[in-house]
Amino acid sequence: MLDKYNDCTPSLSEKAWDLVSKMTEEEKGKMLLGAGIPDFDGANPVIDAIESRVPGAAGGTYEIKRLGIPSLIVADGPRGVNIDPIRANDQDSYYCTAFPIPILLASTWNEDLIALLGGAMGREAAAYGVDVLLAPALNIQRNPLNGRSFEYYAEDPLVSGKLASAMVKGIQANGMAAAVKHFAANNQETNRFSIDVQVTERTMREIYLKGFEIAVKESQPWTIMTSYNSINGSHTSTRQDLLKDILRTEWGFKGVVMTDWFGGYAGACKYGKDNVLEQMNAGNDLLMPGLPEQAASVRKYMESGKLSKAVVDLNVKRIVEWVLRAKSVRNYRSSGEPDLSGNAVLARQVASEGMVLLKNNGVLPCSSLVSPLAVFGLSAYNFISTGTGSAEVNSAYTISLVEGLNHAGFTIDEELQDWYAPIVAKGKAEDVAQRLELGMFAIPERLPELKLEQDLIARKALSCELGIITIGRNAGEGVDRQLDDDFNLAEDELELINAVTEAFHAKGKKVLVILNIGGVIETSSWKNKVDAILLSWQPGQEGGNAVADIISGNVNPSGKLTVTFPRKYEDSPSAKNWPGIPTHDPKMAIYQEGIYVGYRYFSSFKVEPSFVFGYGLSYTTFTYSELDLSHTVFENEMKVTLTIKNTGNTAGKEIVQLYLSAPAVTIDKPVRELKGFVKTKLLEPGESEMLVMTLVPKDLASYLEGRQAWIAEAGTYELAIGASVADLKKKAAFILAQELVAEKVHKAFAILQPINELKATRY
Ligand code: BGC
Repeated sequence: MLDKYNDCTPSLSEKAWDLVSKMTEEEKGKMLLGAGIPDFDGANPVIDAIESRVPGAAGGTYEIKRLGIPSLIVADGPRGVNIDPIRANDQDSYYCTAFPIPILLASTWNEDLIALLGGAMGREAAAYGVDVLLAPALNIQRNPLNGRSFEYYAEDPLVSGKLASAMVKGIQANGMAAAVKHFAANNQETNRFSIDVQVTERTMREIYLKGFEIAVKESQPWTIMTSYNSINGSHTSTRQDLLKDILRTEWGFKGVVMTDWFGGYAGACKYGKDNVLEQMNAGNDLLMPGLPEQAASVRKYMESGKLSKAVVDLNVKRIVEWVLRAKSVRNYRSSGEPDLSGNAVLARQVASEGMVLLKNNGVLPCSSLVSPLAVFGLSAYNFISTGTGSAEVNSAYTISLVEGLNHAGFTIDEELQDWYAPIVAKGKAEDVAQRLELGMFAIPERLPELKLEQDLIARKALSCELGIITIGRNAGEGVDRQLDDDFNLAEDELELINAVTEAFHAKGKKVLVILNIGGVIETSSWKNKVDAILLSWQPGQEGGNAVADIISGNVNPSGKLTVTFPRKYEDSPSAKNWPGIPTHDPKMAIYQEGIYVGYRYFSSFKVEPSFVFGYGLSYTTFTYSELDLSHTVFENEMKVTLTIKNTGNTAGKEIVQLYLSAPAVTIDKPVRELKGFVKTKLLEPGESEMLVMTLVPKDLASYLEGRQAWIAEAGTYELAIGASVADLKKKAAFILAQELVAEKVHKAFAILQPINELKATRY
């Protein structure tokens, strides 16, 4: 294939232009859509070819055999490769590694580890013949009820952007393309194809774009996926300000922009619009997965001249250039044999590093001699590995909590296991049936917890050393979560917590709660009743083993929260504007909370959460010392150094966070914002590490719409180094002598109607 292009003299761009010049107009038109469409002539050989190469992949690009342009295979997703594990008439299996959910990955705050994991995902995808992995997803955790919270990293754009960059670098190190998604402000599932996000330019740039900006600039993803929603009246895939001015001109993005599946079409076609012309003109190069109606539109606009040759050629050229970089073009033969056992070890390591110890009154770590354990809660026996939808992975197995505890040498009370077994088996069978009917969008229903006799629980408190209760949650793509029996615990769950804690405490025994969840839940009403809480998230196929690693002390927990756990849902700054208006069938979601998302809100408005951003416990203790700033007056850069020492008896890692408080003379500013973080290496008891973080002008600045610029006001900037946003260990200050214009940019996101944004008005 493409032999004559194997010499490396012309650049990829030149080769791509050359190929475009050799294409017919019809071929170009086809290239602008994914292969999931019938051929212009009615036949459909291309989609068949993709299915036979990698069954279960999400789609592919158009193939032009005569020019040696192969189709690229595109597969989800953000926590592993999502393809069919079993194929007709094939003895082999194609299981993939189910890594932990992305919110757990983010809770590691460990860029090196996430890059390693991206590498493993990329190699696995390549081994199965995939060219593009539809990952990472880095939308902001705006509201706790978002059904896809598990797929996203954080409520803060710096953490999201840094970890997404690490993931992209890992994936692409293997010649695999990453697709950073969903660009942008894709923060809810209710009416996801059509919801119009009404938001100011400042909020877009500081909160909803910042993570993408970091990812694009630091990791140069080969592709970006636009989101389903529209912003201030137009679908993201049609917005020239977003895709041309910001993404390509300001940030220097060089790759391909593709739509989300049916994006810009599914939400508009009921109004008689297909958005094809607008998408092409905005430089949304590729329409995925490609529909016959869109193909017809492309042809119509090309023939009428409404879609100019220049736009077509440029969009096609970018797609071809991407194809030329991919593995498939080099006759790459996939091995079909990924390193599943090596990747399972990594999945377990990452899972235990991203779990967050929320409370620990002398319960953990606990030796396996502290047995038997009384394990309550349905999900303990059927551990939830992931949320549902395109981010699912067909792994060969999932280690449940009880299996993991058994592997670690703990004994589990058998009578309780017998009580749970039939219900768990029934639940699993129902899930399988629902799955057959609804496919990957089936969300397993939460079954009510078993109502065990108080007498039985009391006997267990006598015979067992520790009570463990799991709380499990399922959610996923296509549907948002509910307030009752989901964010808030159900009555049966609260009864279980009450019954077990009363019985165990009466016998002087303790109770540990494990949260096997994908998004934030209510914890404040019951957390004081229990002795320890471990947030295991939905930890992937090795989940049970990873929890056992933490319980046994084999791993010292070092995860911290990248989302705030509010005391009650109504405290969430976006609650008043969720899921939008009108509430029963929302058309628009007004982002009235503005930049006050997550901890920016809770700390500026002094609303006490249940667990704060950046929080997580360890089995050891750390001291923070020798904070030093490179300058007292800010010029172009500020280096911040400090030393962290492990002062306890167990080796451990600390996540150190840098928060900045700007003077807020005339600009409305959150009381503090995260502007840097570092995770230490594994520090042995007594060992220290010196850490360095760097501030650049844009870190001080806010986006001022009136001036179309990122501006930092003159004055005193206070810097705090914390173990969380509320646990600030060391403080220092520096001066910015005069106003600083960090960057001038294009005007974007004109609003349709005034947005009465929340302001902290500290000045
Ligand atoms: C999801 C994307 C996914 C795509 C392909 C869409 O429904 O929103 O995240 O990559 O499907 O499966």
